[in-house]
Amino acid sequence: MKRQPDRSLQDGQVLRPWTTTDAPAMQLAMRDPLVRQYASRLMDDRDAVLAAIHSWSDQWHHGTGAAWAVVGPGEQVLGTVRFGLLDAELGTGAVGYWLLPEARGRGLASRALNQATAVIFSRLGWHRIELYHAVENARSCAVARRGGYTPEGVLREAMRYPVDGRWSDEHLHARLASDPAPT
Ligand SMILES: CC(C)(COP(=O)(O)OP(=O)(O)OC[C@H]1O[C@@H](n2cnc3c(N)ncnc32)[C@H](O)[C@@H]1OP(=O)(O)O)[C@@H](O)C(=O)NCCC(=O)NCCS
Repeated sequence: MKRQPDRSLQDGQVLRPWTTTDAPAMQLAMRDPLVRQYASRLMDDRDAVLAAIHSWSDQWHHGTGAAWAVVGPGEQVLGTVRFGLLDAELGTGAVGYWLLPEARGRGLASRALNQATAVIFSRLGWHRIELYHAVENARSCAVARRGGYTPEGVLREAMRYPVDGRWSDEHLHARLASDPAPT
């Protein structure tokens, strides 16, 4: 597998693979209340973050996932987009994302989702990518729609967020490799 590519977004913002030097930034981001609320996994210590960054790199090389950091012009971490394969035979994976508060409200998440999705379809050859968000998370729903992920329904109590262990009804969106890219 070739190296995981970078992608330019806008105003000097870039998608690039996470590196181990980002570990402190990831630990800080995990303290943001909204990032924490919707994290599928809480990574509070440095060892857990480093292990995750190594595993994302391995996943890219095996075609089973990929994670990009969204960084600003000064290389500061602003967010992430991360994919993981759910079913290799079906070529079905899932995606998740977050932005730090200072990067929200500018369309950055939608652009990052769009660009990263294009790389996954073209380079890893997946067939379908699913996106789940808590039903009350309207901002995430808007990102999904802007990213060309079609709403497919509600999955009752399909998720349990580690921050408080509550059951969450999840809105499912998905994009197929054959779906048109959003304009
Ligand atoms: C979900 C999350 C990434 C959405 O961030 P966001 O900034 O609302 O999303 P976008 O980057 O797509 O930006 C959309 C906003 O930018 C505005 N915007 C400005 N220029 C824009 C452009 N060129 N294109 C699109 N939107 C633009 C939009 O109007 C919208 O703002 P509004 O909702 O106030 O109208 C963010 O709220 C977050 O990190 N939340 C915590 C973690 C989380 O919920 N993760 C998802 C779990 S499923």
